[in-house]
Amino acid sequence: MFRLSALVLSAVLLGLSFSGSRAATCTRPSVRREWRKLSAPERAEWIAAINCLARLPHDDALTPIVDRSISNIPPVNTSGSYWDDIVYIHMDLNTRIHSTGFFFPFHRFYVHAVESAMTERCGYTGAFPYWDWSIDAHDVEHSPLFEDSNPISGLGGWGDPAKDIQVQTGGFRHLEVAYPVPHVLRRNFTLQPFLPFASVPVFTAPEQYANVSFTPERVRALVDWTPGDFVGFQFAMEFPELDSVIPADGMFPEVTIRDVMDTTGGYLCYVYE
Ligand SMILES: *[C@@H]1O[C@H](CO)[C@@H](O)[C@H](O)[C@H]1NC(C)=O
Ligand SMILES: *[C@@H]1O[C@H](CO)[C@@H](O)[C@H](O)[C@H]1NC(C)=O
Ligand SMILES: *[C@@H]1O[C@H](CO)[C@@H](O)[C@H](O)[C@H]1NC(C)=O
Repeated sequence: MFRLSALVLSAVLLGLSFSGSRAATCTRPSVRREWRKLSAPERAEWIAAINCLARLPHDDALTPIVDRSISNIPPVNTSGSYWDDIVYIHMDLNTRIHSTGFFFPFHRFYVHAVESAMTERCGYTGAFPYWDWSIDAHDVEHSPLFEDSNPISGLGGWGDPAKDIQVQTGGFRHLEVAYPVPHVLRRNFTLQPFLPFASVPVFTAPEQYANVSFTPERVRALVDWTPGDFVGFQFAMEFPELDSVIPADGMFPEVTIRDVMDTTGGYLCYVYE
């Protein structure tokens, strides 16, 4: 389990996306910055663009490909928003894109797709930001990211347990989502995220605290397998098949893993600051 968690984090830390076409070259990569390095207007613009996607209608192009007896999720709600569709494809593809060679490539592709939608449909002008979780790893619950209650530029705090753990502050306090059931954005914090899955055999220590098993040092040790060589890192971790087509459920143009192995290769064009 630690391995999967570490991979999720590594994806956040290392490599996720900007726009461009497959044949394009990347001469001026966009620069992804840590959330705290964004100005208040830049944060506000990102939040506004996400809220904008959540006001756009469902996209009929959405075509789930995993049988629901396997994905085990509710059907698509066509009264939901474009943002719900984006969330849905990640849930639909859950079994294909986690613990497989699609793990890094899919998530890099996915963030790129979301960023492109924000740009093309909502006029977003920035690059996608990231969260350097290691700064807050000693106490994620009290991370400044979740203590910024500014109604326009803040991410807001944890949900109110007395109000269905719906988020009460920040720029997402009115974010309505239709999946899996209609609700206002909920957020709950726990250091034991796998406790509810105690009966699933793959979770060998479900009661373990995340701040014990999942530390910056553990992640650093993984990343240091192949210092300075992200492509090598992906092969060491996931054995990606370069010609495999990344599934996108009809929502986004399909590309291969090869197309997203390099974040400045042309299809993708960004760096992390
Ligand atoms: C589908 O979404 C709409 C809009 O949020 C909501 O009113 C409706 O109850 C949802 N239907 C189901 C079955 O959840
Ligand atoms: C929120 O998380 C806490 C553990 O931190 C848990 O006790 C509680 O049941 C959770 N609330 C909901 C509604 O899931
Ligand atoms: C994990 O977090 C809990 C609650 O904040 C804290 O009491 C504990 O000392 C932390 N453990 C580590 C190893 O950081």
